Formats: sequence, C-alpha cells, structure tokens
Amino acid sequence: MKNIILVGFMGTGKTTIAIQLAHRLKMKYVSTDNLIEKKEKRTINEIFTKSGEDYFRDVESAVIRDVACMDNQVVDTGGGAVIRDENVAYMKSNGIVICLSADEDTVMERTKKYKHRPLLNVEDPKRKIRDLMARRANFYAKADHTIDTAKLTVRQVVEKIAEIAGSSLKPDGEPKR
Ligand code: S3P
Repeated sequence: MKNIILVGFMGTGKTTIAIQLAHRLKMKYVSTDNLIEKKEKRTINEIFTKSGEDYFRDVESAVIRDVACMDNQVVDTGGGAVIRDENVAYMKSNGIVICLSADEDTVMERTKKYKHRPLLNVEDPKRKIRDLMARRANFYAKADHTIDTAKLTVRQVVEKIAEIAGSSLKPDGEPKR
C-alpha cells in the first residue's frame, strides 16, 4: 500500500484522524512535525523563534522527501507543508493526498487552547487564521480529495478516507488518478 498523506490547515483534525486511520487500515502513523522535532532535538516553537520559519520549512521539506521514500504510512503533515510545490510533488509521487478543511471559527475553537503553534501565538489569532487560510487556499486545492471535517465525527472522516483510499489505490498500491 502506498501512503495516505493528510494535509490541511491547523486545527482541521489531521493528527486525530491520521492516528485513527492508521489504526483502522493497519498502516504506520507518521507525523512530519514529530520527525522535525526529533531531527532538530527541539520543539517547533524553538525552531521558529531561534532559526526562523524559512529554516523550519527547509527541514520540513527534507523530512517530507524522506517520508515519501517509504510505503504503507498515514502521514500527518504540518499545515504549511503544501506551500512548497516540491513537497506536494513528493507526497503525490508515492501516495494519495487528502486535504482536511474546516471553517475559520471551527479552527479557532479547536486551536485556541494550545500554545505549540508559533504562527497562532499572536495578538489576533482569528485574523491570522483568516489571512493564512486565504493565502494558502490555492495550495490546499492541489490535494487529490478534500473533506470538510467541521460537521463530521472522527469516525465519519476516517471511513470516508478509507473508502477513498480503497477505490483510489489499485491492488498493487499504485495511485489511480
Ligand atoms: C504550521 C502548522 C503546524 C506546524 C507549524 C507550522 C503551519 O502543524 O507544522 O507550527 O504553517 O500551518 P499543524 O497543522 O499540525 O498544527
């Protein structure tokens, strides 16, 4: 089985869904953010603060390239992973790319209690969410499929993706587009 790669804005449910989906399909759960932190031996907040976002994006691209070399994984990517075309090309080279989406109020609700996302640790996170979502819309649109998670349960989203993966990945695991 090739990979199932989840992309989408912060707070759209990528991590929760990816863990459940991996369990459901008996695939390996992989988080690019976790791999970045492991590789750097520091948190994403520290990477952003001390080395800047461009540096973070370089490490993120390297991790995505490495992850694309392996099969049978559900890959949980960071919300900005799609903003470099090369990243999306690597993802598509070895799997199906599913974008999770949600409206800005839902994202705000789901993210407001956490402090581990440097881009949302700002004075007006709602505005930041709106701006970033608008700027990234074209990138998220490059996914093979999009699922709005705002009004669905985790189980419903997992089943939808399992269905898509079942019909999109041929028995030999080659993506069929
Ligand atoms: C980011 C999203 C985060 C993490 C980093 C940058 C982004 O991941 O990669 O803080 O640019 O949207 P999540 O989408 O898992 O929160």
